[in-house]
Amino acid sequence: MSKDAVWVLFLVTSFQCLLLSAETHPAILLPNHYNRNTPVTCPAPNPNLYYQPVIGIVTHPGDGATGRLSNTTGASYIAASYVKFVEAAGARVVPLIYNEPTEKLFKKLELVNGVLFTGGWAKSGLYFETIGRIFKKALEKNDAGDHFPIYAICLGFELITMIVSKDNNILEEFCASNQASTLQFVENANIKGTLFQRFPPDLLKKLSTDCLVMQNHRYGISPGKLQGNHKLSSFFEILTTCEDEDDMVYVSTMRSRNYPVSAFQWHPEKNAFEWASSEIPHTKDAIQITQYAANFLVSEARKSINRPVAQEVRDNLIYNYSPTYCGKAGKGYDEVYIFAPV
Ligand SMILES: *[C@@H]1O[C@H](CO)[C@@H](O)[C@H](O)[C@H]1NC(C)=O
Repeated sequence: MSKDAVWVLFLVTSFQCLLLSAETHPAILLPNHYNRNTPVTCPAPNPNLYYQPVIGIVTHPGDGATGRLSNTTGASYIAASYVKFVEAAGARVVPLIYNEPTEKLFKKLELVNGVLFTGGWAKSGLYFETIGRIFKKALEKNDAGDHFPIYAICLGFELITMIVSKDNNILEEFCASNQASTLQFVENANIKGTLFQRFPPDLLKKLSTDCLVMQNHRYGISPGKLQGNHKLSSFFEILTTCEDEDDMVYVSTMRSRNYPVSAFQWHPEKNAFEWASSEIPHTKDAIQITQYAANFLVSEARKSINRPVAQEVRDNLIYNYSPTYCGKAGKGYDEVYIFAPV
């Protein structure tokens, strides 16, 4: 065979191979192969959603480390896990410093697209009043046509239970300190429009069999007491319950019937971001719970119609403060942001 003949043979067989492989393995064309001459434009995927959402997190009295970091009167803190929770889902945080003048606090509330009430212990005084004012304002925003979500976690759950019932003695005592638990969905639980809606079916199932969520509370409310209180039962719908150490049943997740309000007696933020307690679940499933819970809050916040001035947002972001590592002692929170009074 001449050199040319070999070359032709090679070309023919290669072409046949190409044809064959095209038949069995169709080529995958990446989007930019379709039409190289059309300039690529990237409009917002959904012009009705806001892609710079900001969540306000209310600070809690103290330093979050029983005085190890600061004894300053009027100091307050946010455990950094709540900030990371929000950031991991694609939003930024503005701290809402609970003891700032109400006028200043409400100005900051105009910079955010949703709020988060953290865990803690304070159930009275200025802190309780501030949570009440912000909660009321948030509901008003929704009534006025904004979609303004609220996540109330642990103490936050307890405080909005007190606020909605208008009964500061509504809570009952439970033994659920520092323990992981399952979540039991109530009969006919309607998870449409809740954080659980987007859970993959197998993860949703595991919630009721595996200890995937962290509890750390001594108060709560039983399903019976909630249902027997008209103000609470007309506002909230129970999604899940849990049993404490003494087999007493408490409401562990609920949502508002008419507002984008979700309340967790458990801690969605801890699984991925807190390490001091060996009880905190850190399995792949547990981390996903944190991620799905964070994604739901931020996806709700993207529906907000609030479009604050960008510079005013930047001036008030949590990035104006530095977190402090307090987890070296092997207890409490790993990192906290501390806000000294001005
Ligand atoms: C705060 O006070 C406690 C008790 O007196 C003390 O042990 C701690 O070191 C103080 N913290 C700071 C940051 O000074």
